[in-house]
Amino acid sequence: MMNNIRRSALASLEYSTDAKTWLQGKGERFIRKLGITEGQSILDFGCRIGHYVIPTAVVVGPTGRVFALDKDHDSLDFLIKNAKKLDLDNHIIPIKTTGELNIPLEDDCIDVVLLYDIIHIIIGIDGTLKPLQLLLTELSRVLKSGGLLSISISEGHLREVNYTKQDIIDEINKIFTYRNLFKEEIMHWDWLLIGQVDNFFLA
Ligand SMILES: C[S@@+](CC[C@H](N)C(=O)[O-])C[C@H]1O[C@@H](n2cnc3c(N)ncnc32)[C@H](O)[C@@H]1O
Repeated sequence: MMNNIRRSALASLEYSTDAKTWLQGKGERFIRKLGITEGQSILDFGCRIGHYVIPTAVVVGPTGRVFALDKDHDSLDFLIKNAKKLDLDNHIIPIKTTGELNIPLEDDCIDVVLLYDIIHIIIGIDGTLKPLQLLLTELSRVLKSGGLLSISISEGHLREVNYTKQDIIDEINKIFTYRNLFKEEIMHWDWLLIGQVDNFFLA
């Protein structure tokens, strides 16, 4: 069941050295630890070049779907170019937006939302928690009941917009229920580091 990304295919990817290490197995182990399984539908909101999309696509397999949403269309094109080399592009669905917080997906169709390293950017839209509230409401609409919302926040980035991690957790707890915290080796931008991921579920 372990990683099925072939070493030869991995070598052809245009990702950083750390990202290739991540794709060799750490990424897939992390995604499985979240509870993601074969056949599920996952939304990665603000996925950039797909450091989480690729291992998620491996785990959900051809019967699953990974919706890769970003307003940076070049990043999504780069992701799909790499996904093609891994034969993963048939179940990765890029969603190119212009930064709007409404999501072009129907209600109750997603098992897990990944919201990694983007919350400070959402707050930065107007400096208040309002855009985050709008996004969380939208995420709760597309998530199935019992679905998971997994977030990572850089406390340094949050200080830049004058909020604390507790402020964000309090906001999320208005709609979701806190589940647990993982301290894990994760990808942050193009580097591997020990980071924190907080998980919530939709009751
Ligand atoms: C710091 S990167 C994080 C990428 C990825 N989640 C990760 O952890 O590797 C933030 C990404 O969010 C995207 N983004 C920011 N605001 C967005 C919005 N309103 N709608 C869609 N994408 C957005 C950016 O274009 C960028 O690709």
